[in-house]
Amino acid sequence: MRIGIYPGSFDPITFGHLDIIRRAAKLADRIIVGVAAHSGKSALFSVDERIKLLNTALEQGDFPKDCEIIVEGFDTLLIDLMQKHKAQMVVRGVRQYSDFEYEAQMSALNAKLSDYDIETIFLAANAEYQSIASRFIKQVAELGGDVSPFVPKHVVEALGNIQGINSTKL
Ligand code: PNS
Repeated sequence: MRIGIYPGSFDPITFGHLDIIRRAAKLADRIIVGVAAHSGKSALFSVDERIKLLNTALEQGDFPKDCEIIVEGFDTLLIDLMQKHKAQMVVRGVRQYSDFEYEAQMSALNAKLSDYDIETIFLAANAEYQSIASRFIKQVAELGGDVSPFVPKHVVEALGNIQGINSTKL
């Protein structure tokens, strides 16, 4: 059984993330979308809110039926989540070359930390989604811009519902 983990902050989920989930689902029998409590960034949405936004997006979207997609929060090391699920691969989306430096470092670190074989699979972001980053989405939303080209409708609403987004979190 091929089990993959797609970890991230997902603060909030974007069309770019959903595209990676859809494509990762073609490569595995089960994909665990791991919503990290510890990503080194302060988050706008709580882990529970991010999970809820993700699950709604997965219910509404069209995803490969032969892959089980599970959303789970984690506050441990990624490699511990992998071990818990007996996952063999990490999936990460890469937009620009500059993303790759950080990703390569993280992949090498995880390989070193883990005491069993894991592989990181990098999926090149679809050209259509290359400009999408959750960090920018939050900024655009805070400044009154239209984020509907980048995130599902319920996420647009969730961003709109946050009164006076705290700019220290962007
Ligand atoms: O979407 P992001 O913020 O780029 O994702 C980063 C993430 C969550 C994949 C990374 O910070 C992570 O794996 N955090 C869990 C804690 C961990 O294992 N840290 C060591 C590897 S950086």
